[in-house]
Amino acid sequence: MCGIVGYTGSRPCRELLLAGLGKLEYRGYDSAGLSLVGDGRIDSVHAVGKLSYLQEAVAARDERNGGSLATLDAESCAGVAHTRWATHGRVTQENAHPHDDASGRVHIVMNGIIENWAELRRRLESEGAVFTSETDTEVVAHLIASHLEGDLFGAVRRACLELRGHYSFVAVSADEPDLLVGARKECPLVVGRGEGENFFSSAIPAFMAETRQVQFVEDDEIVTMTPDEVRFFDAAGKEVEREVTEVDWDEATAEKGGYETFMLKEIHEQPDAIAETVGDRLRPDGTLDLDDLGISDEELRSFRRVLVVACGTSYHAGVVARYAIEEWSGVPVGVDIASEFRYRKPLFKTNDLVVGITQSGETADTLAAMRLARSSGAKVIAITNVMGSQATRDSDGVLFTRAGLEIGVAATKTFVAQTAAMYLLGLKLAEVQGSLPPEVMAGLGSDLRAMPQHVQHILETQTEHLAEIGERFRDAGFFFYLGRHIGLPIALEGALKMKEISYVPSDAYAAGEMKHGPIALLDDRTPVVCVATDLPMLDKMLSNMAEVQARGAHVIAVATEGAHQVAENAEEVVYVPRTDWLLQPLLAIVPLQLLSYYVARARGLNIDQPRNLAKTVTVE
Ligand code: AGP
Repeated sequence: MCGIVGYTGSRPCRELLLAGLGKLEYRGYDSAGLSLVGDGRIDSVHAVGKLSYLQEAVAARDERNGGSLATLDAESCAGVAHTRWATHGRVTQENAHPHDDASGRVHIVMNGIIENWAELRRRLESEGAVFTSETDTEVVAHLIASHLEGDLFGAVRRACLELRGHYSFVAVSADEPDLLVGARKECPLVVGRGEGENFFSSAIPAFMAETRQVQFVEDDEIVTMTPDEVRFFDAAGKEVEREVTEVDWDEATAEKGGYETFMLKEIHEQPDAIAETVGDRLRPDGTLDLDDLGISDEELRSFRRVLVVACGTSYHAGVVARYAIEEWSGVPVGVDIASEFRYRKPLFKTNDLVVGITQSGETADTLAAMRLARSSGAKVIAITNVMGSQATRDSDGVLFTRAGLEIGVAATKTFVAQTAAMYLLGLKLAEVQGSLPPEVMAGLGSDLRAMPQHVQHILETQTEHLAEIGERFRDAGFFFYLGRHIGLPIALEGALKMKEISYVPSDAYAAGEMKHGPIALLDDRTPVVCVATDLPMLDKMLSNMAEVQARGAHVIAVATEGAHQVAENAEEVVYVPRTDWLLQPLLAIVPLQLLSYYVARARGLNIDQPRNLAKTVTVE
């Protein structure tokens, strides 16, 4: 979730690069740097902290040069720059981008994760490469340099053939000073076209003050850029045409990547959030590399119980995890609302693992519950999206979600990232317990890896239908949600989203509980959202839906593609792709987020800043 800027043209580019980074900083970053290319050499500056620290470092360099700009700063008309949101390696000056090969001839800035970085690094080290950072990006710089025979494009092409993962990067070489080469695989990269100058960036706002002529780089493409020419090549090395689009966004829209709200943008970032969170932690054979957790396999094997503490949406991710972890590993899981847990004198046992889920890492009740557990001798880990947050200090280990900064008050992409992280933990517990056969682990691993494409498919095929349903029920006075088993936390989360942004009263229940009271609420005005994805007990869910219809209420079902029987008991069906049934929550939640979104939109509400809510709840 980093920010990339690149420039090649006729103007000295240092200030252009810094200005571009300034437009990306709203995403919240932890270090920054830039590299300027000159005749036969490249100079870099890096700084930890906000962009202002990089600007100070640049100014200090001018000062050291007696108040005048260093030659490259004054003359360089090509360069790359980066703001970092750490995913791989700590927040340090050494890990800040750009990274170079040891000779300093190739510099790159990158967004994403290289899954096979460790094996590539071992090989490059055995060939003599010397590394100075902990990042996977430096591996790519060395790899490109190892293929460099005076042709940066060819070297990038050969390097990409060896990379596994998802990334976008821009490379420069001291030997071809006005050439930038960009590559993209599942991470954003766009081109800005100017007169005698061109730009790369991970987001359009970075160059919008200079040009509004944009070309979008597609997956697996490599792009060469000089001041006068931009050429696109597909994975086979064949040159492809790419149309130039003129963007007419205002600045606020541009910050939202062209979406009307941050929430909608973040809903569309969910494929990325899942891909980044799973990333290199899941090996192709379905085994897990959770080394960043800092808890040995032996200790993980010793846990006899998992207790999850969290609030709001994070609590719902914990409830999803309970079903999956128990099913896969046989380890019992308790899930508590943190504000209840901390005051009910919970009983701890030896070999308890307590997991605090909190996207912000600052929620007062979750932190208090984690501290209570820790002071009682339990091992505590945090699942959080924010490096350096309090939760990372109040825990023995951390599993970071890698969703990027979430600005919309209603949590969306952090929910799927938390759920993905908890699935990883569940699979890891199954691995150390030996509770699943290797082929089942491998199958679940490959299903989990396919989730980003499935979410993308839902966004592309179901959004319009959900906007229509939202419009149809815009004036509903009450929304009821039903789910069973793994569908229940999704019903709970869907109802929470509806309350938060549309202010329509909503309730969610375990479908089997409906007859024990809430069925009295139903009449011919009530939309009832039913999570009816693949479940061993789907027939029970279908009976509940029939009971709802018999009361004249309107069933809106989320179902798995191919499950046509669901349509017999529903007025509206939104289909999600088929996958392992325990992983369905990652897909089923997407239609419910969109439904609440379109109801709120139809009601003309401020979706990103709903009334009375704060993004981070730091008081009880
Ligand atoms: C979700 O849409 C809410 N904004 C809220 O329930 C949130 O999930 C809760 O406050 C917990 O926050 P945390 O994940 O930062 O701890």
